Amino acid sequence: MMCKLLLLLLLGLLVNSLQAAVETTLSYEKARQAVLSAEEQLMTGGRTSLSAKESQVDDLFMQYKLGELAQGFRNADQNVAGMHFFKAKPLIDRSSVFKFLQQMPKGAVLHLHNTAAVSSKWVVRNMSYMPGMLRCTNAEGRSRLTFRRAPKLHKCTSQYVYVADERRSSIDPVLYDENLEKLINLYTPVPELEYPTITAVWNKFQAMFDTLTEAIFYLPAFRAYHWQLLEELYNDNVMYAELRISLKEIYDASGRTFPQEQALRELQALNDKFVRLHPNFIGIKVIYATWRGADAATLRVKIKEFRKLQEAFPKFVIGFDLVGQEDKGKPLYEQLAVLKELPPNTNLFLHAGETNWFSASTDINLLDALLLNTTRMGHAFALVKHPILMNAVKTRNIAVELSPISNQVLHLVWDMRNHPGAQYLALDVPMVICNDDPGFWNAKGLSYDFYYAIMSMAPNNAGLRVLKTLVYNSVRYSMLTDRERQRAYQVLDYSWSLFMDKVLQGKVF
Ligand SMILES: *[C@@H]1O[C@H](CO)[C@@H](O)[C@H](O)[C@H]1NC(C)=O
Ligand SMILES: *[C@@H]1O[C@H](CO)[C@@H](O)[C@H](O)[C@H]1NC(C)=O
Ligand SMILES: [Zn+2]
Repeated sequence: MMCKLLLLLLLGLLVNSLQAAVETTLSYEKARQAVLSAEEQLMTGGRTSLSAKESQVDDLFMQYKLGELAQGFRNADQNVAGMHFFKAKPLIDRSSVFKFLQQMPKGAVLHLHNTAAVSSKWVVRNMSYMPGMLRCTNAEGRSRLTFRRAPKLHKCTSQYVYVADERRSSIDPVLYDENLEKLINLYTPVPELEYPTITAVWNKFQAMFDTLTEAIFYLPAFRAYHWQLLEELYNDNVMYAELRISLKEIYDASGRTFPQEQALRELQALNDKFVRLHPNFIGIKVIYATWRGADAATLRVKIKEFRKLQEAFPKFVIGFDLVGQEDKGKPLYEQLAVLKELPPNTNLFLHAGETNWFSASTDINLLDALLLNTTRMGHAFALVKHPILMNAVKTRNIAVELSPISNQVLHLVWDMRNHPGAQYLALDVPMVICNDDPGFWNAKGLSYDFYYAIMSMAPNNAGLRVLKTLVYNSVRYSMLTDRERQRAYQVLDYSWSLFMDKVLQGKVF
């Protein structure tokens, strides 16, 4: 309400100043300036005020940002802001803006899938060296990594082979590891050739989940993997995460299996240990995720499981989501009857509108997500085409979970300056920056996505105001309880202020 009033007021002022310019033939320059500054104030962070210290940091940041943008402007084939991540990454890694973003406290990441959260390098270097890892392939020639023989479950048509044996008998173990990593990483120097269509890239992407999932539910791997997940967030200065997890039974080396509750208990234990070790890390919570393509009967079973888990872990399991390529079908509208069986007051965090189609079942998911009272929206890439829905998102204060690199790698947009996130920033749509599946495309943590947000989507002259607003949004739109949130803000205020000092002491640039 407040926002709307402010907006009307600003628009009023703008119209007045334009009229004034005409009526009193005030200078053309003044009218121009009035429009530019009105737009600046309307955008995300436009009304965020900076302390004297922050303003100094902003000045410094802007020097580097404008410098890097100017370089890209002069040299189009080195224009990082407009380049595909796979080509831009070496340049981003050398960028001063990126160094700043890496060290900047980024608050929370609110859209991240556990299976794709850890860097593929670590999976290969660590998990694939755990004794007992097996590989088999299915009829389509896709690999599955696992630590148990369960042919029915894995639907493999090949024998199981030990990864260690394969590696040992390969001509070049280093090359073997590189090829192993390719099973769980989309990287290619020529994405435009390797993935000519959205279908091509999604097929490989979906297969990567199938390759890795079984392996991370092996108890020792589960522990090491999720510990590394926390490490990678923490090392990137992220302090809290709401993880989407498709829960499965855990199994161990003796062949014993444990129900899904055990996976949650394990996660809680890891989380507690990690938080004890790093008191300025707030922790993680879990969004129960399940495949959107499931038939009604299967989805019903999943909803029952979700209900049970949420009753057992009311503070840890915070809500429900449907995952998988939206364009492939099962729109929310088709699942309405089953979704009604969710416990009342379930928080929904629905993926919606992750598409380039307009007025297809996929982008209409945005409408159903809103009618279902979703708490936040995953991607909402197509929201920009639906003014009434976009208005609803603003007035109902529903945050869009923007995952820039994911949208680029998964074929929705090439030049990130054309990402609808630019409009969301310009119109101050509630928004948080997320990373979705960083481990599957050589990203780590949240800094790379922040890089594109500030370099490609925000206006050239936008700096710390936007960054600070996005960072604080991540706590504001999280599902932390009031007490936890209060503590999170305290920790964030403190680390933010330390970071400002560090920049001014010349320790960042
Ligand atoms: C894998 O990671 C775990 C947990 O960080 C560590 O204890 C273990 O030594 C690592 N193993 C290898 C083979 O690198
Ligand atoms: C969504 O919220 C509105 C307003 O609180 C309520 O009337 C409606 O029944 C809710 N819809 C669902 C599907 O829960
Ligand atoms: Zn996602």
